[in-house]
Amino acid sequence: MVRLLFVCLGNICRSPTAEGVMGKIILDRGWESRVHIDSAGTGDYHVGELADLRARRAAKRRGIDLVHRARQVAASDFERFDYLLAMDGSNLKNLERRAPGGARARLLLLRSFDQSAPHGAEVPDPYDGDDDDFEDVLDICERACHGLAAHIAREHLGSE
Ligand code: 4NP
Repeated sequence: MVRLLFVCLGNICRSPTAEGVMGKIILDRGWESRVHIDSAGTGDYHVGELADLRARRAAKRRGIDLVHRARQVAASDFERFDYLLAMDGSNLKNLERRAPGGARARLLLLRSFDQSAPHGAEVPDPYDGDDDDFEDVLDICERACHGLAAHIAREHLGSE
C-alpha cells in the first residue's frame, strides 16, 4: 500500500481538491486497495469543516465529490504516509520544520510530478480569488496527479 497525504494551509481549498482528483484517478485505475490518500492543513483554522463551497462546486462540475473534513497535519503523518505532497513552498517549509528526525515520509511539492511545470512550481492559493482560480487549481491538480500516478505505477506498483 502506498500512502499519499496532500497538504496545504487551510485544508479546505487546494489539498482536498488534489485528494479528490487523485481519488478519481485511483478509482479509474482500480487502485483502491493499493493507494491510500488523505489531506491535511498546516494550520488549524478550519478543522472539521467541509471544503470551501467554491472548491466543492468546481470539483462537482468534473464529477468529483469533495467529502473530506479539514484536519491539521499530525506528527504521526510523517510515519504513516510515504509521501507528503505540499501545495506550495510555504507548506513544504512548514512540513520540513515539523518533520521528526528519520521520518519515513518524503516531503515534496505536488507540482514536482508535473513534467510541464517549472522547478519549484506551486498550486496557487485560490482562497481570496474567484471561480476561475478554483478552475485553475483543478487543472493544475489534474496535471500533477496524473504525473504522480505515473510515478506511483513505475516506482511502487511495478507497471507503466
Ligand atoms: P487552502 O486555502 O490552504 O488551499 O485550503 C486557504 C484556506 C484558508 C485560508 C488560507 C488559504 N485562511 O487563511 O483561512
